[in-house]
Amino acid sequence: MLKDHDCGLLNEKQVGQTVSLAGWVHRRRDHGGVIFIDLRDRSGLVQVVFNPALSPDAHQMAYELRNEYVVCVVGEVTRRPAGTENPKMPSGAVEILARQVKVLNAARTPPFYINEEVEVEESLRLKYRYLDLRRQRMKDNLLLRHRVVKFLRDFMDANGFIEVETPVMMKSTPEGSRDYLVPSRIYPGKFYALPQSPQQLKQILMVAGMEKYYQIARCFRDEDLRADRQPEFTQLDLEMSFVDEEDILQLLEKMLTSLVETVTPQFRLLKPFPRLRFDEVMSRFGTDKPDIRFGVEMGDLSDIFAGSELSMFQAALKEGGRVKGIAAPGCAGYTRKQLEALTELAKSYGAPGLLTIALTGEIGPETGKLDPEKVKSAITKYLTAAQLREMAGRLKAKTGDLLLLVVGKPDVVNAALASMRAEMGRRLALADPKLLAFFFVVDFPLFEWNAEEGHWQPMHHPFTAPREEDAPLIDTQPEKVRSRHYDVVCNGYELSSGSIRIHQKPLQEKIFKILGYKDEEIVERFGHLLEAFEYGAPPHGGIAPGIDRLVMLLAGENNIREVIAFPKTQSATDLLLNAPSPVSDAQLKELHLRLREE
Ligand code: AMO
Repeated sequence: MLKDHDCGLLNEKQVGQTVSLAGWVHRRRDHGGVIFIDLRDRSGLVQVVFNPALSPDAHQMAYELRNEYVVCVVGEVTRRPAGTENPKMPSGAVEILARQVKVLNAARTPPFYINEEVEVEESLRLKYRYLDLRRQRMKDNLLLRHRVVKFLRDFMDANGFIEVETPVMMKSTPEGSRDYLVPSRIYPGKFYALPQSPQQLKQILMVAGMEKYYQIARCFRDEDLRADRQPEFTQLDLEMSFVDEEDILQLLEKMLTSLVETVTPQFRLLKPFPRLRFDEVMSRFGTDKPDIRFGVEMGDLSDIFAGSELSMFQAALKEGGRVKGIAAPGCAGYTRKQLEALTELAKSYGAPGLLTIALTGEIGPETGKLDPEKVKSAITKYLTAAQLREMAGRLKAKTGDLLLLVVGKPDVVNAALASMRAEMGRRLALADPKLLAFFFVVDFPLFEWNAEEGHWQPMHHPFTAPREEDAPLIDTQPEKVRSRHYDVVCNGYELSSGSIRIHQKPLQEKIFKILGYKDEEIVERFGHLLEAFEYGAPPHGGIAPGIDRLVMLLAGENNIREVIAFPKTQSATDLLLNAPSPVSDAQLKELHLRLREE
């Protein structure tokens, strides 16, 4: 080794020792005669002093050093002179008196500062990811990720799970996205699909008698990317035999609780994790993955407006629409301009419009018409004091709050108001950043109607079991069938999805048929699974927490790219490797492919 100590770990214990260090020049300061460098390796920094009186050769060499040069230094650990200690640096009580220095490699001037936490354009960071990863924040994130994955592996092992790898070149398995395909050279016109998840194989591992399986699994999905979505991502994929919902939920709660308490004890948790039904979570928050660290819950106001003279309400309600609202705390003073901006924002989230009611004054016990001095809204004159009191009660609004109302189709209203709620939460900093509010969502419907294509589709994936008592409704009222699916949600992100699975061939076939698969298609796509179910498939279930999202939350980041060493951009490109990239005609020919002129 060119080094016998780590820079950042040096302290007073080594005073008097001669050490060999190797790393990067983090910063150089020339103090007229004496030259200082902060030497950096993965462990952190240490100050190295080049004193011409002590070692003229090393001092001469130090003139040549520039930021990011790779160097090897031999020197003596000494206590820093009193008053020059740096308490911000773990090695700040000591410094190295350099005897020798060797440049192992020079470096060009980096395109951005590595020794300062400054904002750098993301495309530049991704192109030079190896420099970006030298920065403290990214290093911390990767280190945290390592500790999280290590914890999870140890936890799974301690709980009797075995890690089994499954192939990356496999067959299409539906998780609701497009597949990434790999053309076969040997079989013209045939393709492998990269797994959207190892779902079917983990179920087959249960048929194979593994009982408790897990894998740190890479998944691939060709879908629209967002801050919490990458085309390839990692799951802690797990599956267990002979379990019901309670076993999986308790395992997850135990795992996440001890993970946070061990690895990131600076966070608080809700204990026990709350459990909310899907219909409840939708009616209160308009989304199945709300941030429950703050209130601002939605209220349904449709009945209050049912008798209203406003034609907008009449029309919407007649067509099955709803009026729902939230109360933005302390925002009654928003100016007209701010309100207009808010309306535009609501529209950008899909709302047809936004109605605002500012509670600028106290609404007392008065009856009849409202005082426009106390209630500022375009619809003040259509409302009575009693109606407003009822509304305010449902939205838990108080004087000084701003009511935000959306009218329209239920899913549009929910989605738009959920986004507005999240927006107000951000603006008003309503969420406690030190709280990780994990909770479970249960009792999801098994199916949802795909209006565009005119058929039922699984709310999650087609392998999810229906609740036993709802199974008779599958043929008659599929919309009423509840599933044995559960989600783990935290701070506005869906962290994890799972379910108890179907393990009997007839029920699985029936579900495929309801989902619109033709007989030949069922055999072609899922024949292997159905056949496996005929050879003694145990009841089983599982879940798959997304590791990128989990580490993002633990790192306090709001984008999973910050916790992935080499992520793709929002438009699915790799700027470091410059991928995707063209391939040669010879490669295409070998794969029996020809590019079509678009
Ligand atoms: P699901 O599709 O819900 O379930 O995925 C489980 C978890 O994986 C993470 N995740 C993603 N993370 C980053 N980028 C993406 N594009 C992405 N897509 C999903 C999320 C999500 O909660 N086979 C089932 C699990 C099961 O039933 O056991 C599955 O994959 O954190």
